[in-house]
Amino acid sequence: MGSCKVPYSVLLLYFVIGTFFVSQCSAIGVDANITARLLVNASDAAGRPIPDTLFGLFFEEINHAGAGGLWAELVSNRGFEAGGPNVPSNIDPWSIIGSESSLIVSTDRSSLFERNKIALKMEVLCDSEGTNICPVGGVGVYNPGFWGMNIQNGKTYKVVLYVRSSGAINVSVSLTDSNGLQTLATANIIASASDVSNWTKVEVLLEAKASNPNSRLQLTTTTAGVIWFDQVSVMPLDTYKGHGFRSDLVEMLTDLKPQFLRFPGGCFVEGEWLRNAFRWKASIGPWEERPGHFGDVWMYWTDDGLGYYEFLQLAEDLDTLPIWVFNNGVSHNDQVDTSNVMPFVQEALDGIEFARGDPNSTWGSIRAAMGHPEPFDLRYVAIGNEDCGKKNYRGNYLKFHSAIMQAYPDIKMITNCDGSSQQLDHPADFYDFHIYTSANDLYSKAHRFDHTSRNGPKAFVSEYAVTGTDAGRGSLLAGLAEAAFLIGIEKNSDIVEMASYAPLFVNVNDRRWNPDAIVFDSSQLYGTPSYWVQRFFTESSGATILDTTLQTNTSLIASAINWQDSNDGKNYLRIKIVNFGGDKVNLTISVGGLDPNSIQLSGSTKTVLTSGNLKDENSFNQPKKVAPTKTLLENAGTEMNVILLPHSFTSFDLSKESSNIRTTGTDSSSRASF
Ligand SMILES: *[C@@H]1O[C@H](CO)[C@@H](O)[C@H](O)[C@H]1NC(C)=O
Ligand SMILES: *[C@@H]1O[C@H](CO)[C@@H](O)[C@H](O)[C@H]1NC(C)=O
Ligand SMILES: *[C@@H]1O[C@H](CO)[C@@H](O)[C@H](O)[C@H]1NC(C)=O
Ligand SMILES: *[C@@H]1O[C@H](CO)[C@@H](O)[C@H](O)[C@H]1NC(C)=O
Ligand SMILES: *[C@@H]1O[C@H](CO)[C@@H](O)[C@H](O)[C@H]1NC(C)=O
Ligand SMILES: *[C@@H]1O[C@H](CO)[C@@H](O)[C@H](O)[C@H]1NC(C)=O
Ligand SMILES: *[C@@H]1O[C@H](CO)[C@@H](O)[C@H](O)[C@H]1NC(C)=O
Repeated sequence: MGSCKVPYSVLLLYFVIGTFFVSQCSAIGVDANITARLLVNASDAAGRPIPDTLFGLFFEEINHAGAGGLWAELVSNRGFEAGGPNVPSNIDPWSIIGSESSLIVSTDRSSLFERNKIALKMEVLCDSEGTNICPVGGVGVYNPGFWGMNIQNGKTYKVVLYVRSSGAINVSVSLTDSNGLQTLATANIIASASDVSNWTKVEVLLEAKASNPNSRLQLTTTTAGVIWFDQVSVMPLDTYKGHGFRSDLVEMLTDLKPQFLRFPGGCFVEGEWLRNAFRWKASIGPWEERPGHFGDVWMYWTDDGLGYYEFLQLAEDLDTLPIWVFNNGVSHNDQVDTSNVMPFVQEALDGIEFARGDPNSTWGSIRAAMGHPEPFDLRYVAIGNEDCGKKNYRGNYLKFHSAIMQAYPDIKMITNCDGSSQQLDHPADFYDFHIYTSANDLYSKAHRFDHTSRNGPKAFVSEYAVTGTDAGRGSLLAGLAEAAFLIGIEKNSDIVEMASYAPLFVNVNDRRWNPDAIVFDSSQLYGTPSYWVQRFFTESSGATILDTTLQTNTSLIASAINWQDSNDGKNYLRIKIVNFGGDKVNLTISVGGLDPNSIQLSGSTKTVLTSGNLKDENSFNQPKKVAPTKTLLENAGTEMNVILLPHSFTSFDLSKESSNIRTTGTDSSSRASF
């Protein structure tokens, strides 16, 4: 964590202004004694194109971002593998319904699937007749999902499970509330002994007749016998594009208009130990056959339903470019010697073939069999994560680099070594740059790339965020510093080609890392200020960055872009300004390089992100306490006096229509993407 450079007196000022902020709002202009001037040359000729790829996403399996999050599977530990390969094993979070006199639940290694041998064995001692009568409602097991399943009235859930028994079965499959008292949906699996003497796949569609965000799945019976279960899945039918992603979370991502998706980590790719690192080959093929693994950096089990294929599919569904980060034979604690790294190199080459080889190739055929004969548009790979300082990194890197360059000359490769302050000593198309620091430090890092050499590989700022006490669980203060940093990235986008915030998601039940962009539980979600800041940059990728000059004595940072709305072909000028200080600022904006009549007033808006207190955060109760508010900009023109609120991030969106071809009935507020 960087040190906090804000002196105490300034902090006190923040507090005082914060307290009186609301009343100041209604008295705008009365006491804006700080003035500043922003000159914008809105002529495209004075601008520079911003790379199409500039702003995107970094998804890491951390904080249950995927398992119990973006991946819509509702059952946790669906294959009973999380307790390890030896029996007896812990079946957590599965639990038993019934007493020891009515059933005995254990695990054995009788699974149908070779790579995940553990199955659940349920010996039911009670019966529907005789001396040991089963309780009403039956005995069996339940799975509470990842801190409760969100079951919604009228929606349909697909249950898939594998079952085997020594006799005939009558098993109730139910979705209930967290105590099993209220049944939301139920069906019975009834089969003769011969039907289930071997493993049998059963599919059941359950339509919920009530809603409960904290539901569970129950498998119960009232008949004596021995029943085995394995690979028990519950998926809602209405996932994003039918591909298994939780729609409400994906929509938060599409609203960011991301241009790339870096995945699946992060440290998740490295592992504390190589034996626990994410391995793409173990994450593909039929979900029932995937072994799953324990991610030992973020300390949780994943069934790997969200595997390499699904990440590529997600990138495609988001209309973004996938950036695959693979392990280069280096974890946090152990490393493969360079003389012995070729099998890892081959694994990476196979992974590229899986993504884009033709359907007749060894690995391309598996992709095709999974339902995607067309190649995925994989153009970028990252060789490791944060491993530059490791002993074997350079040696290993060079082996990967030369093999990939030979097999796939068009693939762009990303090194872990920072090339922003000195030249790299190895070939690369991009260098990875990560920064987690205090608000003041990140604010100052808006200039981080101003003096970087314009030759050589480009920067990929794949992880940035304000962390520590300035950020809490996602404060306005963190968002403002990040806004300034991103403005610096826009201005340096001749050398910085991609940037993404980290981490993207947090399930509130497993906060491994704070803050994060999107916070959720089984049914609710909200964006932190860091999320909303990114929404100001949705039009930047592929836009034109303009020449701006800021004349000020206070903490302001600004940029301006020209961008075109691909829906209506109209042109807009967006000016973004962070007021990092605690004073209101009277800013004069002068837009040059334009026909004075060409800025149309009616289509112009102002969007502001601020709040009463720098440390304000959003929450499930107040999801938009700190969120952008948009109003019409009344004095839009080539010369404008505007007031910047203390501690604010403001975007001025000016329509560049010629004022005599006004369209009527156009809702200006639908244009900008806030
Ligand atoms: C801002 O400053 C200009 C002069 O530069 C002045 O005319 C205007 O009244 C000021 N506006 C406010 C709201 O203080
Ligand atoms: C602005 O005005 C206030 C109140 O008059 C004063 O306390 C403050 O010092 C002024 N700020 C600057 C930068 O002049
Ligand atoms: C299956 O069990 C349920 C109770 O769980 C019972 O109501 C139903 O009649 C049984 N069906 C058959 C065919 O035995
Ligand atoms: C069960 O499956 C095994 C292996 O597929 C097969 O050898 C055996 O004949 C099957 N048993 C029955 C009863 O169908
Ligand atoms: C794949 O193999 C089939 C059958 O061998 C052949 O007809 C087809 O042309 C091949 N496709 C490609 C893209 O090589
Ligand atoms: C900044 O301060 C200097 C000296 O205090 C002053 O001459 C200058 O006019 C100020 N500039 C602005 C834009 O306020
Ligand atoms: C804007 O930039 C263009 C191209 O560099 C230049 O010709 C023009 O004079 C500039 N206009 C202003 C107002 O600075």
